Amino acid sequence: MSAPQIVETIAALRTRLAAARGARIGLVPTMGALHEGHLSLVRETRKRADTVVVSIFVNPAQFAPHEDFDRYPRTLEADAGKLAAAGGTDLIFAPPVGEMYPRGYATTIEVGGPSRGLETDFRPHFFAGVATIVTKLLLAVMPDMATFGEKDYQQLLVVRRLAADLGLATEIVGAAIIRESDGLAMSSRNAYLTPDERRIAGQMNVVLKRLAAKLRNGEPIAVAEADGRRVLLNAGFASVDYVAVRDTKTLEALTSLDRPARILAAAKVGGTRLIDNMAV
Ligand code: PAJ
Repeated sequence: MSAPQIVETIAALRTRLAAARGARIGLVPTMGALHEGHLSLVRETRKRADTVVVSIFVNPAQFAPHEDFDRYPRTLEADAGKLAAAGGTDLIFAPPVGEMYPRGYATTIEVGGPSRGLETDFRPHFFAGVATIVTKLLLAVMPDMATFGEKDYQQLLVVRRLAADLGLATEIVGAAIIRESDGLAMSSRNAYLTPDERRIAGQMNVVLKRLAAKLRNGEPIAVAEADGRRVLLNAGFASVDYVAVRDTKTLEALTSLDRPARILAAAKVGGTRLIDNMAV
């Protein structure tokens, strides 16, 4: 398997992809610092596409000024090595910031619906930044399909809404969450955790699993949500942004489990913010 080629400009990307049009093109958007979760998206995409593009771009528009944009890991060489070793990637699109946001850039994509609440209550800038860069990446690559992880469940629904509302020709595919052996959802931000924090972080999915079981046994939603918050704090999380049981498709709040539901949580361990979710 030959190493994937790296291109840095939209023009070079289009030239490279011209010959691949006609057969199916798949895109996996990432911010790099690749782990097994990202590689699973590449494998899912490979099954459904003849040419696979992985984008690696730490998108400044989705970070607030106080967030970790500057210290977010940038490991392009190692990422390219992982993609080469895993196989399945044809092209890496790794543009500099100025290629995606040239001087004078002034356009933002805002999605309503599933963007409301949850992450937006704590990161109000976030989904406009994601929707804008995802739209730009989809327009640059014009893929037949693009794959997003359920790890960022609200993001997946926002991207689906965006693609439907703008009538984009790209099919949006969701992929299962890949976890460490203790159940912690893999994340580039896990690299920030000290050994103590890492141990606490592993409790998040344990708590969600327990809550899902309680809900299935009839525990009222409000009780389960409050319980989850309390248990996370007791486990050593510094703060809990939300533990919420929502409609799987719309993320609307539920008063009873009369529809397929998802439990979503965000909490900080030390200074690191972690999110996870699971079907009820
Ligand atoms: P990033 O956090 O790098 O994630 C890239 C993709 O990998 C997302 O679709 C995410 O849901 C998926 N992913 C991350 N960890 C995963 C895991 N443990 N299991 C399965 N999938 C996982 O999400 C972003 O980047 C950005 O917001 C982006 C969409 C690239 C826009 O900038």
